[in-house]
Amino acid sequence: MRKKIALIGGGQIGQILAMLAAQKELGDIVILDIPELENPAKGKALDLMEMAPHGNYDANLAGTSSYKDIEGADVVIVTAGKPRQAGMTREDLLAVNLQIITAVAQGVKQYAPKAFCIIVTNPLDAMVYAFYKLTGFPKHQVVGMAGALDTARWKAFIALELGVSVTDVAGTVLGGHGPDMVPLPRLTTVGGVPLTEIASKEQIDKFVTRTREAGTEIVKLFGKGSAFFSPAWSAITMAESFLKDKHRIIACAALCEGEYGVKGLFIGVPCRIGAKGLEKIYEIKLTAEESSMLQKTVGVVQKTIEETKL
Ligand code: APR
Repeated sequence: MRKKIALIGGGQIGQILAMLAAQKELGDIVILDIPELENPAKGKALDLMEMAPHGNYDANLAGTSSYKDIEGADVVIVTAGKPRQAGMTREDLLAVNLQIITAVAQGVKQYAPKAFCIIVTNPLDAMVYAFYKLTGFPKHQVVGMAGALDTARWKAFIALELGVSVTDVAGTVLGGHGPDMVPLPRLTTVGGVPLTEIASKEQIDKFVTRTREAGTEIVKLFGKGSAFFSPAWSAITMAESFLKDKHRIIACAALCEGEYGVKGLFIGVPCRIGAKGLEKIYEIKLTAEESSMLQKTVGVVQKTIEETKL
């Protein structure tokens, strides 16, 4: 029997998620949106079924607004919620998206209580915390998609500037999904060569700043809405590692219970994702400077989480 993937939210990111999940034959796919958008969700599902002969994939896709249809899902990816518009911070979305996540958590808890859940809705660190609290799911079952995207952006900017293949760039980004995130140049390599040996301090500073502001750079270009291709592929990488038990090590927003000195918050940290979900958080020994940057981002996340009052 095929695995079942439930996509809660069938907007910009949701539709790319559906396409990628189908193309990768991760399983059958249900796209759930609000009742007013049930027909567009059905239409997207049908369109993707009609693409299958060219895409050479076998996957059944369906659109719905009823949680009953996600019953027994193995993976749930949540993008339900408002995206940023130009001039907005992610935190500006808190009140409206908290309401949406509350409804989503209820539906997922009822119909897919065993699913591995990947939250994408912003402000990410607070929304994944809220979903975790509201469902009461164990921590290995709930992660936030942010670090995977921030890391992808970090690697893309390095490859672009240095004129090297992006596939040779390895590294990670810690912390919250916002302008205080912590890329780690000291631990980044390009084909095994330390970044700090092949890029100047000025170049590295530029990569750090651009990565921190990458989401905003896209929002400004779009004018309306926020990034969707790269967030979708980042979430699919996480889902695939779970579904295929790949044990990939991916930066995810995970519940820290003492790791990095953080207790009870979801923070971007390197995680091993396999068939059991979040299987392990890796703790990196940080320099004093890196630690103080991490503390700053943790403070920002803590404040946003407090605003959820959960
Ligand atoms: N249940 C299901 N779907 C919902 C609900 C709900 N209660 N509320 C809203 N949605 C749907 C919307 O109808 C819309 O189709 O979520 C979808 C969101 O899609 P977009 O507006 O296109 O937003 P998108 O670009 O996909 O981003 C979604 O991810 O990265 C974050 O900041 C981004 O919070 C935003 C989220």
